[in-house]
Amino acid sequence: MKPAVASAWKQLDAAAEGLRGRHLRDMFAADADRFARHSVVWHDWLLDYSKQRVDAHAMAQLYALWQAADLPGWIARMRGGEGINHTERRAALHIALRHPIGKGPIVHAGKDVMPAVHDELAKMRHFCGEIHGRHWRGATGEPITDIVNIGIGGSDLGPRMATQALAAHRHPEIRAHYVANLDAADLATVLAGLQARTTLFVIASKTFTTQETMQNAASARAWLVAALGEAAVARHFVAVSTNLGEVARFGIDPANAFAFWDWVGGRYSLWSVIGLPLALAIGFDNFEKLLAGAHAMDEHFFSAPPEANLPGLLALLEIWNTNFLGADNRALLPYSQSLGLLPRYLQQLEMESNGKRVDRQGQPLECAVAPVLWGEAGTNGQHAFYQLIHQGGRLIPCEFIACRRADFELPGHHEKLLANCFAQAEALMRGKTLAETTTELTAAGLPADEVARLAPYRSFPGNQPSTTLLLPRLDPFNLGALLALYEHKVFAESAIWDINPFDQWGVEYGKQLANRLLPILEGNAEATELDSSTRGLIAWIGANGMAG
Ligand code: F6P
Repeated sequence: MKPAVASAWKQLDAAAEGLRGRHLRDMFAADADRFARHSVVWHDWLLDYSKQRVDAHAMAQLYALWQAADLPGWIARMRGGEGINHTERRAALHIALRHPIGKGPIVHAGKDVMPAVHDELAKMRHFCGEIHGRHWRGATGEPITDIVNIGIGGSDLGPRMATQALAAHRHPEIRAHYVANLDAADLATVLAGLQARTTLFVIASKTFTTQETMQNAASARAWLVAALGEAAVARHFVAVSTNLGEVARFGIDPANAFAFWDWVGGRYSLWSVIGLPLALAIGFDNFEKLLAGAHAMDEHFFSAPPEANLPGLLALLEIWNTNFLGADNRALLPYSQSLGLLPRYLQQLEMESNGKRVDRQGQPLECAVAPVLWGEAGTNGQHAFYQLIHQGGRLIPCEFIACRRADFELPGHHEKLLANCFAQAEALMRGKTLAETTTELTAAGLPADEVARLAPYRSFPGNQPSTTLLLPRLDPFNLGALLALYEHKVFAESAIWDINPFDQWGVEYGKQLANRLLPILEGNAEATELDSSTRGLIAWIGANGMAG
């Protein structure tokens, strides 16, 4: 840890010590202005972090940590196209993907990347026009009605999540489907509802070597060829990749390939041509609004001081909870059905980015990083796991996300949804004391012995920290800003923890071992040098077979 960070860390330790034993309900009782003091407005968004276990002093120390970790310097390095993904010797320039034309260059390796970015966007726009205008036809002359994106991880989660999030903005004649899992059940169930004549496959892979994607693509190709013949491939397959050589080897016409660059990390690639299935699902104009929202958040992150910086505040609060209060997880609770896949998307963004064990110098970390992120759309989660958050005895910082306006309007729904969201945050904050429960049960007419028997079960410790983020509505612009908010939160955390958020060697290791085991499972190699468990599992399959 750098000396300046270590010294800020010490101050934060002392601030946390000072707050130990203080209950959130007492902090609210002691300060009528607590909400005003600990909430921030950005345009028509509201971030309320008054239910976090902080006070003005702790926040001031967190802002000092931001400066000590040189966040302004890290932001400048990212914007300047420096090789901040140092283990792969790459820049991380996803911000260029949403940088508007005419707003100046973004330079990488001495060259402005903006012309190439905008050429690919123009190509995407043209292709969307071809599909939506029914000019692009399948091999039998019929228009395309169904898009199947085949990809995994960053080549799947972003467009899949955003397609669901923007369901209210969907193009009326296009249905988008997503296949990621190597398990044939994924592809087979999607194909079962489709006609080859009207289906377009988008094969999305940054490397175009990922085993899951290549297997699904090969099976999809076989399905299409069986229905329409080999010549149909050109009208029913397009590719999205940085590896155009592999695209050609797979048999997709380079004219039907959309390119991006190694300075775009997989989990940061929604804004690139990886967003093609989303653009087809919601229309290119809406895709551009998504980019505009992300760019607006970029500008905010680059310029706002930490006390008004939304990604910065989320990062600092997570560091507070993780490193000073000892939380090892965070629940992401969107009160929006459309944001139902957001926890899954953020699991990759946050845990693949910051799930690291050594710092940028290769030294073991001295502090915990990247809490486990989990969650589910409210109110469904309330009827599943909230019980544990209320009474399970664990520290679980919660992040509520809600929209002022519903994206699908039916009378009577939205008020109830918001009431539930705010009620959960309130209940988790204040809890219910034994005395309150006793009074309540007595007032309900229960006999004294019954009150005494039940009161411990019906009391709640509270003091569970939460943040509530209120968006005006879920539309392409606000979704773009929301996703960029989390990208920058992750980046700010990584700068403070001094880790590289842009590599993922753990994932690569898993891929390497799977490739080593495959020939053994296929019976083409010997199971030498395997541990007895792995050898035993493979032997069991060998003895009992994979069929039937
Ligand atoms: O899951 C690991 C990973 O390397 C991700 O970072 C990436 O998004 C995903 O695999 C898919 O990789 P590709 O786009 O190259 O197929």
